[in-house]
Amino acid sequence: MNYNSALSGFHKLSIDDKLNKIKEMVELTDEEINRLRVTEAPVTIENTIGVMTVPIGVATNFTINGKDKLITMAVEEASVVAAASNAAKIARKHGGFKTSNTGANMIGQIQILNVMNPEFASQEIISRKDEIIKLANEQDPILVKFGGGAIDIETRIISTVTGVQLVVHLIVNALDAMGANAVNTMVEACAPLLEEITGGDVNLRILSNFADRRVVRSRAIFDKEMLGGEEVVEAIVDAWAFADADPYRAATHNKGIMNAISAITLATANDWRAIEAGAHVYAAKDGYYSSLTTYDINEEGNLVGTIELPLALGIIGGATRVHPVAQTCLKIMDVKSAMDLAEIVASAGLAQNLAALRALSDEGIQKGHMKLHARNLAGSIDGISTELADKIARQMVKDGKVRADYAEELYKNMK
Ligand code: MEV
Repeated sequence: MNYNSALSGFHKLSIDDKLNKIKEMVELTDEEINRLRVTEAPVTIENTIGVMTVPIGVATNFTINGKDKLITMAVEEASVVAAASNAAKIARKHGGFKTSNTGANMIGQIQILNVMNPEFASQEIISRKDEIIKLANEQDPILVKFGGGAIDIETRIISTVTGVQLVVHLIVNALDAMGANAVNTMVEACAPLLEEITGGDVNLRILSNFADRRVVRSRAIFDKEMLGGEEVVEAIVDAWAFADADPYRAATHNKGIMNAISAITLATANDWRAIEAGAHVYAAKDGYYSSLTTYDINEEGNLVGTIELPLALGIIGGATRVHPVAQTCLKIMDVKSAMDLAEIVASAGLAQNLAALRALSDEGIQKGHMKLHARNLAGSIDGISTELADKIARQMVKDGKVRADYAEELYKNMK
């Protein structure tokens, strides 16, 4: 599907007009549009009493690997979608985002206790690798049929406060699935064989969210002039260097990246807790917690940004398959594989980070936030029209008084 993601004036349209525009571009059916209006939980959990709704916004201007992408983000925080779209516009001038990845391998862990000779047991496991992999793959013939499945075994001997433990890693190519179900089934099935081989006792058998074999990188060149000139570029690099060196800043810096990453993960009904866990452990992979992005200045003085993080995202199975909203979002983003989705997510994370660093190093973050906050405050007044809410929001920003009581006062005077 080919469309142009640079939709000027999109933000000024009503929700229906926005939907009609997307419908035209992405060839959505009425049914697919209606799915976005779901008000009942399409997946069930225990003791369900309702649904929590958050807005879905479309980030514009993204070009990823030479293709334009509209990106759906489900997030309660104002400014996130606009900021990502602005940063994507700045990257667009130099071709947008270019990505690469390490493939979709996940790790399943099997913890073995009470092993008499862990080194010897470890060698035994490796020598019977084919047998273990075969047993694992018998659990998921469909994954194997499509070219995925268990591909390798690794062992680790770790010292813990309760003694030495032997840990086996089953490496599984999850293809288009997130992989948790397949991996967990496989490690459970392999446990008795591993007990027989090692003479130990298996305790935990579970997927690791440290998906360091499923890493995605995205890179973009952000135009110097569009950023605001040399000084802004240098200030952004200094802002990044702060996060690179200081975990207190890195936590906030990476939180900003996750604003985009978790929002797309949620819009596609993927497991955002798994993605968050993987991102933060990856940020600490060198022994200290640091930034998920890096920045540099190229010969032309433009800013070169990169992001690298694990992204265990699926497009088949789990809630993604059954959630109607997720299905429509995948269609809008024109996602054909889990890797397509991961490349979008990484690129949006980089865009979000650049936007935050630029705002922070320039005018500060509050100005933009306040405009949207004012609009939200005015819009929450019972029965208010869109026009009046906009007018009141503008007035509050102008007067420097963005507060609920002032919104009410202006409403009384203006209605
Ligand atoms: C707010 O949601 C995110 C930021 O704090 C990120 C950052 O500081 O880089 C603006």
